[in-house]
Amino acid sequence: MDNGREQWGSKLGFILAAVGSAVGLGNIWRFPYVVYENGGGAFLVPYFVAIFTAGIPILILEYGMGHKFRGSTPLSIARANKKWEWLGWWPVVTAFFILSYYSMILSWAMKYFTLSFNKGWGSNTDAFFHNDFLQLTSSPFEFGNFIWPVLLGILLIWGIGWFICYKGVKGGIEKLNKILLPTLIGIIVIIAIRGVTLEGATLGLNKLFTPDWSRLTDPKVWISAYGQVFYSLSLAMGIMMTYSSYLPRKTDINNSAFMTAFANCGFEFLCAIGVFAILGFMATSQGVGVDEVVSSGVGLAFVVFPEVFSAMGAWGSILGALFFISLVFAGLTSLVSLVEAITASIIDKTGWERKKVVSGLCIVGATISSVFATGAGLYLLDIIDNFVNCYAIVGVGLLEAILIGWIVKPDIIRNHVNKISYFRIGKWWDFIVKFVTPTMLIIMLVQSLISELKSPYGGYPLAATLVYGWAIIGFGVIVALLISRKPWENKSSDKNEEDGEVVI
Ligand code: TRP
Repeated sequence: MDNGREQWGSKLGFILAAVGSAVGLGNIWRFPYVVYENGGGAFLVPYFVAIFTAGIPILILEYGMGHKFRGSTPLSIARANKKWEWLGWWPVVTAFFILSYYSMILSWAMKYFTLSFNKGWGSNTDAFFHNDFLQLTSSPFEFGNFIWPVLLGILLIWGIGWFICYKGVKGGIEKLNKILLPTLIGIIVIIAIRGVTLEGATLGLNKLFTPDWSRLTDPKVWISAYGQVFYSLSLAMGIMMTYSSYLPRKTDINNSAFMTAFANCGFEFLCAIGVFAILGFMATSQGVGVDEVVSSGVGLAFVVFPEVFSAMGAWGSILGALFFISLVFAGLTSLVSLVEAITASIIDKTGWERKKVVSGLCIVGATISSVFATGAGLYLLDIIDNFVNCYAIVGVGLLEAILIGWIVKPDIIRNHVNKISYFRIGKWWDFIVKFVTPTMLIIMLVQSLISELKSPYGGYPLAATLVYGWAIIGFGVIVALLISRKPWENKSSDKNEEDGEVVI
């Protein structure tokens, strides 16, 4: 052990945990729709360009940072440049908000898992989800009733997260991913195979993959590709740096980054095939076009899919149960990565014991999440998720690339990772970090700002996007700045440790 810092049991354990964080709800319910909407098969061009010019390079950057400076995100960034410590705290604060709605979605998925056995959502899945189950109010400021089953699920999910992180990196997180990830792959393979053998599946798959090459000239398609890759790989959220700080000194970083990216990518494709095959079946059985049934996100998982499962007979219950449990598993490994990113940062800053930090964190987190177990939960999720994705993730990623590209200098990280990796990355990597990634992220940021100024997100009243959107972004930055002014109480964080050796 390096100075008492925890370590993974094996490199495979680390990669599984990183893939576990990357593989999440985004792979299952976001990616298929993004492909469909952005030119089908033709989308693969911008998608792979984005993976090679942003996904893998930034993954190498985050792995390299965490590994070289051996710390959670704030500690690694502070060791790289003291003045920028706040940038490490911003994603940590944001992680709290993500956790609050992530736990809610997982709570819904658990409930729907139990409902799938007797298709307890009835015949009108839309009304069941919004009215009966969520008791959705008419505005984000109207909280309505406490929804007890949702609250119970949220507490259970936090309990699981607590247990895993309480057990530590090797005994908890690594073990969880070693069990859940292979299980998850097995489940998705079953769903995909059963999906493509359904009647009408080819209709859906043709819709998904038929390339529309003309779309490649549309800048929005390229922006979506970068957005999807950034989101899907869990970049700019402090996770990959934290996870790589638990690696032994000699580890192949470049290879790990490629493996993580490709594993996540393969998983996304499998999900896309499964989802569109099932949508093809639905369209066929209703005698409508695939375009009329396609959807993404919460609507796909909790309204459209339950309807398909109901139309399927006995297989509907099996596929339903497998689908909802896959959401729970995929989400749980991402949730745990968020809890760990916060935990590690607090431990590095204060020197408090892991068990105390995890317990305190989960009690506070579960309390905040309880607000989501009300009739306004779905609105809060929608607004916060949009603002976190459009501004916090993109903002942190942009500043991270600027910090390393222009202030710390990229060759410091490149030399470090090349020293320990089997194949080396060349100067092209510096170019990507300095120019390509920042350019794409700035374009994304400007585009979001312009559409936000034209009309507030999702047709919500301005007050709602101010309170649940902008205020959360502002809160994240301010709290991050305040925390970064406090000294490092943890003695081992105070040393200017690099590469696992103390340098004076
Ligand atoms: N990668 C996750 C997915 O594909 C989503 C995500 C983005 C995420 N950033 C994150 C999950 C941070 C956990 C932590 O669904």
